[in-house]
Amino acid sequence: MAPLDAVLGWDEDSNAEAYSAFTRDFPMYSATSRDLAHRARLADSRLVVDLCGGAGATAEAILALAPATARVLSLDAAAAMQRVGRRTVSDPRLTWVTAPAEDLAAHIDMGSADAVVCNSAIWKTDVPRVFAAVRRVLRPGGRLVFNIGGGFAGVRHPEEEAARGTLSLNSLIHQIATRDHGYAPPVAEPVPPKLSLAALTAHLAVAGMNVLDTEVVAQHGTMAEKRAWLSIPLFARPEGDFTHAQRMRILADAYALTTPQTPTVTSWLVVTAQRPGEER
Ligand SMILES: C[S@@+](CC[C@H](N)C(=O)[O-])C[C@H]1O[C@@H](n2cnc3c(N)ncnc32)[C@H](O)[C@@H]1O
Repeated sequence: MAPLDAVLGWDEDSNAEAYSAFTRDFPMYSATSRDLAHRARLADSRLVVDLCGGAGATAEAILALAPATARVLSLDAAAAMQRVGRRTVSDPRLTWVTAPAEDLAAHIDMGSADAVVCNSAIWKTDVPRVFAAVRRVLRPGGRLVFNIGGGFAGVRHPEEEAARGTLSLNSLIHQIATRDHGYAPPVAEPVPPKLSLAALTAHLAVAGMNVLDTEVVAQHGTMAEKRAWLSIPLFARPEGDFTHAQRMRILADAYALTTPQTPTVTSWLVVTAQRPGEER
């Protein structure tokens, strides 16, 4: 079974529509997907898995780099995300499978995948089980490429470090929610990263995969992009007992205090792993 929160929210049509519109209007998910697909070395691929593929932004990046004869399987547990994907990404090489990532090995043959790409999702899964399933489906030498938001991995790119202390939309949201809406922010306690590189490396080793490369990358955006991202129901803030409409009012008030084109930067840990064996 996938962790309980894996599909909650993602399987809502309104969230899926808003998410997909965001991936089309702003470059964040297409840019991170292109980066991962590039690292997966797809030039000679025959079968590529887009793991936790959602509405298909990552599948599009994979399809752009895979040969005309390759097959791409996009697997996600949320049917609502894939309904939008089926409508917006059309390519005869692409197949959609609605299933938890943990069950990947039930959907393709052992050792048949040249690469597995997972954009912006691995930390939402049962990682040891997913890595074991990925190891089963990868051919010898096949690659697993994924990324993790810097906060979850406990890493920060120097550019994000340099921007610390500047007013973020998130902090404005929390200030306004506290001042005008009776929000009581939880006491901030230092929490260890959910999925550090050391933990990831250990999970990969247990599954029988090696780390080939890791990199902390900076993803650049704007305040306007951040506002659009925070309008997706699943990402809207603050947490707690607010309706989406209330959150959107707080967001509008917070955004009014910013300048739309102000640059923003977020950090990502990108990991390229491999099933040991001969590279093709
Ligand atoms: C942020 S979206 C990323 C989608 C796509 N890779 C992209 O870059 O646009 C995260 C996706 O992970 C999926 N997901 C989360 N946990 C999952 C799990 N355990 N099994 C399958 N899908 C999962 C969600 O349903 C959602 O579609």
